Amino acid sequence: MNGKREYGDYQTPEYFSLDVCQYLKRERQLTPSVIIEPTCGVGSFIKSSLIFDASEIIGIEINPEYCKTCKENIADSRVRILNTDFFSFNLKSLIKGKDQLLIVGNPPWVNNSTLSGFGSDNIPEKKNFKNLKGIDAITGASNFDICEYIILQLIDALHGTNSTIAMLCKTSVARNVFIEMKRTDTNLTSCDILEFNTKKVFGVSASACLLVITLSAEKTSADICNVYSFDRPSEVVSSFGYVNGTFYSDLSKNSPDFSGNCCFEWRQGVKHDCSKVMELSVEGTHFVKGLRESVDIEKNYVFPLVKSSMFKSPIISSFSKYVLVTQKKSTGKHIPHSDGFSQNMELFNLTQRAILKEEEFYLQKRTRFFYVWNRRLFLCKI
Ligand SMILES: C[S@@+](CC[C@H](N)C(=O)[O-])C[C@H]1O[C@@H](n2cnc3c(N)ncnc32)[C@H](O)[C@@H]1O
Repeated sequence: MNGKREYGDYQTPEYFSLDVCQYLKRERQLTPSVIIEPTCGVGSFIKSSLIFDASEIIGIEINPEYCKTCKENIADSRVRILNTDFFSFNLKSLIKGKDQLLIVGNPPWVNNSTLSGFGSDNIPEKKNFKNLKGIDAITGASNFDICEYIILQLIDALHGTNSTIAMLCKTSVARNVFIEMKRTDTNLTSCDILEFNTKKVFGVSASACLLVITLSAEKTSADICNVYSFDRPSEVVSSFGYVNGTFYSDLSKNSPDFSGNCCFEWRQGVKHDCSKVMELSVEGTHFVKGLRESVDIEKNYVFPLVKSSMFKSPIISSFSKYVLVTQKKSTGKHIPHSDGFSQNMELFNLTQRAILKEEEFYLQKRTRFFYVWNRRLFLCKI
């Protein structure tokens, strides 16, 4: 176990959970009948949510010590703390027949790839919850934040009710959640992001926010997500969303020139899962990986690596990083199976050796590689 990191454990200071609850009560005029904190920790949000006139306040938490602290610190007959694992908990049966719920809290800040690295069991069973297809389902695209998974599970359970979900999360998670709600046609009245200073609140540098989603029992949808500052919740800072079915990441910047089909085929997530093996830089005429170790590799499978921050400049003309992109088909000659095997082995020889060197490292991290040679080099993490 890796303690705090495995459980994405950043307890919210009480002053901030109170600020959040006061905002929800005063500015959003919420009057919930039931409040649920899905990963309540030592109970900051449970305590702060006593300001609402709810008849029931339920906290779920995996850590028994935290549950004990919660019970000792909060003496109120409306509060119930359940020491259980959110991933195996039957949330739908807990909320059955209830409406006007408020789900408030701060789910774990960790992603499934980091947890796999620890060999952690604190991972939901259903990893491909966005129903990704093909290689996306088994490589980087299926890497996800545990926080995102929890919020999407909550949305799924509360679908068709007039409930509000108010969660602290990374801003990137909030955007993904909005996009996923649109993809799955979730009934929602509004989706807002209120950015706050994570350095001040949690002592860490990250772009994070309070995500407030108002679900609806009616067939309705919000196409735009407004972004505010938590300190000035009445002024829209920016917004993103859909206009005529097209997603715009910043609606204040009118940039229609960038919409349309790109002549390149883009692959996402490759670097993220296996960056220690796949990410390379160039020194002189050599590719160099991780700890400045020179790696001899065929150029056919190495492509420029473009990070999202690089899109700040309109033309990207140089690359400091490269990435080994595994292929479904080789660019070599297609040779019949029997003798083709040896020829292709030769073609990929250096690449193969470079990857095999890493195998032990990844096996230690409970990661396995498949190698399928003969017209294919295919590598994935499970
Ligand atoms: C980011 S902390 C936030 C705690 C609390 N919500 C707060 O705002 O102070 C995340 C919490 O999630 C708990 N947690 C992690 N995995 C969990 C799981 N599978 N089920 C329930 N709680 C979990 C951790 O123990 C930790 O207390």
